[in-house]
Amino acid sequence: MLSALMLRTLVLVAASVGQLAAGAALPASASTSKHDVTPLPDYVLTFAPLSYLYSGESWWPADIADFVTHVTPQVNFDAIPPSPVTLENVATLNSSVFLTSNDFVEDDGGHDWLTNAANIPDETGYTPAPATIVAVEKPGGILDAFYFYFYAFDHAAFLDIPFGNHVGDWEHSMVRFINGTPTDIYLSAHSGGAAYTYPALVAHNSSGRAQTFIAVGSHANYATSGAQLYPLPVIGPLADHTNFGPLWDVAKNYRGFWFDNSTQTFSVAGGVDIGGQELEGEGAGWLEFLGKWGDEQYPIGLEHDQYCVSDDECHFVSGPTGPIAKNLGRTAVCQDESGCTIKTSR
Ligand SMILES: *[C@@H]1O[C@H](CO)[C@@H](O)[C@H](O)[C@H]1NC(C)=O
Ligand SMILES: *[C@@H]1O[C@H](CO)[C@@H](O)[C@H](O)[C@H]1NC(C)=O
Ligand SMILES: *[C@@H]1O[C@H](CO)[C@@H](O)[C@H](O)[C@H]1NC(C)=O
Repeated sequence: MLSALMLRTLVLVAASVGQLAAGAALPASASTSKHDVTPLPDYVLTFAPLSYLYSGESWWPADIADFVTHVTPQVNFDAIPPSPVTLENVATLNSSVFLTSNDFVEDDGGHDWLTNAANIPDETGYTPAPATIVAVEKPGGILDAFYFYFYAFDHAAFLDIPFGNHVGDWEHSMVRFINGTPTDIYLSAHSGGAAYTYPALVAHNSSGRAQTFIAVGSHANYATSGAQLYPLPVIGPLADHTNFGPLWDVAKNYRGFWFDNSTQTFSVAGGVDIGGQELEGEGAGWLEFLGKWGDEQYPIGLEHDQYCVSDDECHFVSGPTGPIAKNLGRTAVCQDESGCTIKTSR
């Protein structure tokens, strides 16, 4: 603190004397703001999963900074302040709040900011939509790295009937490192997910990195390419589909953070590309928002052609909670720690 103040004073004095070349004084303030930032360990990026989106996807990765410009906070379908909501002020809102679309939402999303075709990854795996990477240190030399994928719209269907659509979609994979070596990986899918040993998901051409697949529309994460069955209580088994569509390399563009499990707080770890730039002004506070990143489930009626087969199995359902609600402090590899089985092959 003292040395930063002294440096700043010296810079001001020197500048006022006119002895500094233009720009020479600038690093003082830049280094002050970055002073306490501990970057993510290299291995978190070296062993970030390589994830294949579906070739026929229509709802691509989204940048949360863009997403929040299209929503208004609501409680019980009534708008509440602040307006506009931003990543800087969203954490002032409580868990009853829904970040609700300003536009009428249809089965196809209906708007560019919900579909995000501009964010289709290029042939290098780069998308302009930053991922969110959260690292959590735990006893026993463990570091859990959570790779969060965000989409502005989740589209699902049963026998081609739209079902379970929602605005906002947070999904994640988690790699457990022990003393810097990746040992296990968890893939979120719907209300559950699956865990594997890390080597089980390394492919012949994936440079030692785990290879994962993201289902069309629902964005659930899987270990294999093809049809994936998952259960729904009332409706029965639904099928997700994955294939070798565009590759998403989250290490190329991300916002990075630390999560301290003992204080349940987040801090900035720096980032890369657009994520790294946007992070500077946003800080880490938005990760503490406990509300929903999307619309509240619409009432049954004509407005959105809403229909339901149970309380929470509907054409349109509520948007999801954010990273803070994904059991970042977990001891087991799985989000739901009861009966966590770690598979040793795909
Ligand atoms: C959450 O915030 C809303 C809007 O300010 C308020 O009406 C509501 O009472 C709050 N809920 C809780 C549980 O604090
Ligand atoms: C790896 O191989 C699969 C086919 O087995 C191919 O579809 C994919 O594009 C390859 N990935 C890379 C990074 O070369
Ligand atoms: C993280 O914190 C929670 C809540 O205090 C605790 O139950 C959990 O055991 C902690 N996790 C680890 C890995 O220490």
